[in-house]
Amino acid sequence: MERTLSIIKPDAVSKGVMGKIIDRFEREGLKIVAMKMVKLTKEEAKAFYSVHRDKPFFDSLTDFMSSGPVVVMVLEGEKAIERNREIMGATNPKDAAPGTLRHQFATDVEKNAVHGSDAPETAQREIAFFFSEQELVRLT
Ligand code: CDP
Ligand code: MG
Repeated sequence: MERTLSIIKPDAVSKGVMGKIIDRFEREGLKIVAMKMVKLTKEEAKAFYSVHRDKPFFDSLTDFMSSGPVVVMVLEGEKAIERNREIMGATNPKDAAPGTLRHQFATDVEKNAVHGSDAPETAQREIAFFFSEQELVRLT
């Protein structure tokens, strides 16, 4: 069993498609073991995306991520990290395969609807960024 952090980004929340995105995870058999809606401050967005602090898109990305509410979730399942990345599709919606969440719901390479952890170490860090151990529901 593996856990990954998923975020429904401000563009998708404001478009009114968070239900559709949650529905997709449920239909794919990924179990939601924690979920909340939060509005990040600019400082929180910078801390979350600190790995990208030297990228040209960092300031714009963290403005965007703190521009409105997001839904943060912990998804659990076999190969949850990789499966979530497949369901999300490529970072740039122009490259995202049909049927992926980013192909369906993203606006552009920045406003791309969803976030998903990319490796076990980042998943652990990102889950701990938003949730304490007691907030994760035990399924068994
Ligand atoms: O989210 P993902 O892991 O697919 O991509 P990333 O390379 O880790 O970039 C993190 C986020 O930065 C992306 O999801 C986009 O929102 C944003 N980004 C951007 O605004 N412009 C780029 N050229 C690349 C990424
Ligand atoms: Mg990434």
